[in-house]
Amino acid sequence: MTSTKQGADIGVYGLGTMGSALALNLAENGFDVAVSNREPEWIDDFINEAGALAGRLHGTPELEDFVQAIARPRSILFMIPSGAPMDAMIKAVTPYLDEGDTLIDGGNADFNATRRRSADLDGTGLHFVGMGVSGGAEGARKGPSMMVGGTAHSWAQLRPMAEAIAAKFEGDPCVDHLGPDGAGHFVKTVHNGIEYADMQMIAEVYGILRDAADLPAAKIGALFERWQEGPLSSYLIEVSAAALQSTDAKTGKPMVDVIRDQAGQKGTGRWTLIEALKMGQSASTIEAAVGARGWSSEKDTRVMAEPLLPAGTQDASVPSEDDLEMALLAGRILGHAQGFRILAAASDEFSWDLDFARISEIWRAGCIIRSSLLDDLSDAFRNELPACHLILAPRLRTRLESSIPALRRVVAAAVTSGVAVPALAAALGWYDSMRRGRGTANLVQAQRDFFGHHGFERTDEDGGKHHGDWNSLSPS
Ligand code: 6PG
Repeated sequence: MTSTKQGADIGVYGLGTMGSALALNLAENGFDVAVSNREPEWIDDFINEAGALAGRLHGTPELEDFVQAIARPRSILFMIPSGAPMDAMIKAVTPYLDEGDTLIDGGNADFNATRRRSADLDGTGLHFVGMGVSGGAEGARKGPSMMVGGTAHSWAQLRPMAEAIAAKFEGDPCVDHLGPDGAGHFVKTVHNGIEYADMQMIAEVYGILRDAADLPAAKIGALFERWQEGPLSSYLIEVSAAALQSTDAKTGKPMVDVIRDQAGQKGTGRWTLIEALKMGQSASTIEAAVGARGWSSEKDTRVMAEPLLPAGTQDASVPSEDDLEMALLAGRILGHAQGFRILAAASDEFSWDLDFARISEIWRAGCIIRSSLLDDLSDAFRNELPACHLILAPRLRTRLESSIPALRRVVAAAVTSGVAVPALAAALGWYDSMRRGRGTANLVQAQRDFFGHHGFERTDEDGGKHHGDWNSLSPS
């Protein structure tokens, strides 16, 4: 420990992939880091492998010693599984803490739990921060994007370290304090929802190229690599291109061709939907993506169904590569717009006053959904329109004008040839619903009133609850 300070600048507890990468990133940026782990034998291994950074890492197997090794007011970052382990850790560590100390949960936690934990510590002099960290292991080591919640006190403490280790977009650190209690974790959850939608839409375009155009993986990867030079430029296109062009050393086959088509999920996509629905929102592209992961896990049923269920397909043309590129761009814009509507609803519901321009800005580097589109979104939020109207912002409308026709052609071709495109179709369905001043909910209201006397508003009167002069059903 350096002699000028009364301890380490920060503590990192949990030396798994993300925790160890963040501890090394902090050390590399000149911070002294106390480190600890539930399995104490990991600590020495971690420090021994840290090379030149080992001098800044201070291993402390006992929880009390770990806390005492950190300068006050303490910042303690926990990179441990979310849920019960976090509650148990708060209970275990609290007796060793002092007024002004901040506990930071850097995992993907349910923001409701973060709000509860913040409320529990309210008035105790201790602080709780839910911090979303995006970018995977490489991001955590070289520069993640971080979405910070909690109190202003904690942010003042954490800020110099967070800004130092964050990814930079043209010099701007991709981290900010987004609001109190669960705001950081909520924004990270929605980030992941958008991530799910984008990944699914890329996979759907891959499906069209593989199953309708009969292209081998490497060719699809090469096409994605070319798209990386255009408006789709993004981390997810980049990794998809690289993954599709990778070869399995064991069989010599394309890597993707030896991977079982059954997607895992840890829950953040589902949380996005649950919270959206609770607030009366619908994020259909995200829902399609979560649903598609669910269906993918029914592998045995799908294999059984394949020879049994008729496709009922008609002749269909394969969309052009340009159309596929533009369709994906339209889907990405609509997926992001739906994500920001959820953020807008939560900002109102929890009085967070979220800054949507800033959120777009801190997503421009370091995180999984980083893309050139986010630059447009931040400009739109700064200079054009509020969140719930993102698709009405002039620069987004211009982009949609040139990409929606392609999305229509791609969805139509996929539907007629029997290739599943649930997320792209959902994006288009939402777009078509939102661009019509007169929808079809008048009939839904009529049905509700007919069978349930639920009432409706009239188009020719303000407010009020009316009932219809319904014809009775003919006796059956
Ligand atoms: C990120 C990622 C990261 C991780 C999630 C998604 O922003 O770095 O979102 O948090 O990939 O765990 O996980 P699932 O796909 O397993 O739900």
